[in-house]
Amino acid sequence: VSRLALVTGGSTGLGFAAAAALAGRGCDLVLVARNTDRLLAARERIHLLCPNVVIEAQVCDLEDMASVSQLTASRQTDGVPDIVVHVSGGPRLYVPGTEDEEELRRHIQSHSLSLWSMMKTFAPMMQQRGFGRFIAVMSRALAEPRADNPLSAAVRLPAWALMKSYSKSASFSRVTFNAVLPGLFETDRFRDVCVDLARQNGETVELARQRFLAAIPAGRVGRPEELGALCGLLASDEGGYINGQRITIDGGSSSSI
Ligand SMILES: NC(=O)c1ccc[n+]([C@@H]2O[C@H](COP(=O)([O-])OP(=O)(O)OC[C@H]3O[C@@H](n4cnc5c(N)ncnc54)[C@H](OP(=O)(O)O)[C@@H]3O)[C@@H](O)[C@H]2O)c1
Repeated sequence: VSRLALVTGGSTGLGFAAAAALAGRGCDLVLVARNTDRLLAARERIHLLCPNVVIEAQVCDLEDMASVSQLTASRQTDGVPDIVVHVSGGPRLYVPGTEDEEELRRHIQSHSLSLWSMMKTFAPMMQQRGFGRFIAVMSRALAEPRADNPLSAAVRLPAWALMKSYSKSASFSRVTFNAVLPGLFETDRFRDVCVDLARQNGETVELARQRFLAAIPAGRVGRPEELGALCGLLASDEGGYINGQRITIDGGSSSSI
């Protein structure tokens, strides 16, 4: 069966890698992000790799609930996804006590309320069809918050709590809800974080990067394709018994047992 996967944040980085992995498994795609040029470039790149899948590009700003509602409404006529991979841009780093309220609100919207809206709209339809997958790419910070990034866990926790409740509901017995918690991956976002931290600590970007690497047992940052492969498994038929889990993928760096 050919399945339709809607991937938000699908134009670059981890979202792009998840989309490419799903296309590799034969899924048709709806790629969602704000910037049209980057979306079209992503569509072209995946098309070259997987010429047989159908790829739509849809502009939506996850920070704007009206834009999210337009997206969910349009999918009800243009095709309800079987799989949703939810990714959005990460919040900026702050020293605790200096966070910006407006940014906190915007990111609770883009990371939590937008995902909730898609779950609420699509999960009952997925259930009716007998198959559904929600995969939220969050952050290792959800399990182990960091002092230098107070917004990261805070903006995602409401979505994770909702996913967990949905995963336990018999009303959605055919739908799975899982969170993927990345450690550090080689994307634009990671490069931005190194620049931010270097600025905060008054050090060079290379030194900030080296300090990150020193804390990763694998001795390297992750490749986005590795995270894409995990999303592919969670989205598959074989992944159907994995539900309500947060799965860390971080080269062995987390400490919780
Ligand atoms: N890379 C890492 O090491 C790492 C580690 C832990 C957690 N994460 C988290 O994983 C997520 C993805 O990271 P990444 O490294 O892949 O980031 P990225 O390279 O910056 O990609 C972010 C993607 O999300 C889209 N996006 C951003 N804001 C959006 C919005 N308001 N509405 C719709 N789309 C939006 C971007 O496209 P547009 O800008 O065109 O909208 C882009 O496609 C982030 O939340 C990040 O915090 C990443």
